Amino acid sequence: CVCHVCLTLPNINIIAEMKKLQDLEKRLKNVEEMLEEMKKEKEALLSFHLCTSTCMYVCICIYMYVYMFPEKKVAFSASLLASGEGYTGPMKPVPTPLIYKKVFSNYGNGYNPDTGVFTAPIKGVYFFRFYAHCQGGTTMAVSLYKNDERQCSVFSWKPAANGNATNGTVLTLEKGDRIYTKLWDETWVFDDTAGYTSFSGFLLFPL
Ligand SMILES: *[C@@H]1O[C@H](CO)[C@@H](O)[C@H](O)[C@H]1NC(C)=O
Ligand SMILES: *[C@@H]1O[C@H](CO)[C@@H](O)[C@H](O)[C@H]1NC(C)=O
Repeated sequence: CVCHVCLTLPNINIIAEMKKLQDLEKRLKNVEEMLEEMKKEKEALLSFHLCTSTCMYVCICIYMYVYMFPEKKVAFSASLLASGEGYTGPMKPVPTPLIYKKVFSNYGNGYNPDTGVFTAPIKGVYFFRFYAHCQGGTTMAVSLYKNDERQCSVFSWKPAANGNATNGTVLTLEKGDRIYTKLWDETWVFDDTAGYTSFSGFLLFPL
């Protein structure tokens, strides 16, 4: 038998060979364990990679949403006096736009109640309308301006009892264009808690 032959071979130490074999087995087991470790590490790395790429994808989506498709909800409405009642005007020269203080809504924050100026947050087609009211005696005249150009106006020449007027327009605006209303020289408007004198605008569609 082979074993017999082995045992009888003079220069083979069978005990030592078996020990070597045992060592080999141990080392093999170590290698197997190492491989298992590496596999686990690879899986962890893969899921980490998946997570970071998902995060990046989400980030890109948010970036695109915020910068490439900006806020499309733009609408505001405000009346002249925050409280009480009274005239604004007459003045010459008229120093500022009419500052509508009582804000009903201001989606997109385009309207500034400190200056009375609406600044287009995005390029688009907008609609604006203003109402003016006055009582007898003095002329009422208000114009709507785009940047420094008059667009449309209302006028009521010294009405006997009181006057109401409204006008509006559809305008194509670039981002940053400024829209406001202004009294003419030596004219006035009246407002009270009923909000007779007001200014509104909204985005019809972006361009
Ligand atoms: C509105 O404005 C236009 C342009 O200034 C003017 O022709 C029109 O008469 C105004 N409408 C009213 C009701 O005042
Ligand atoms: C103007 O509007 C007010 C409030 O609606 C009304 O009381 C008044 O009669 C109107 N004036 C005219 C001249 O139509």
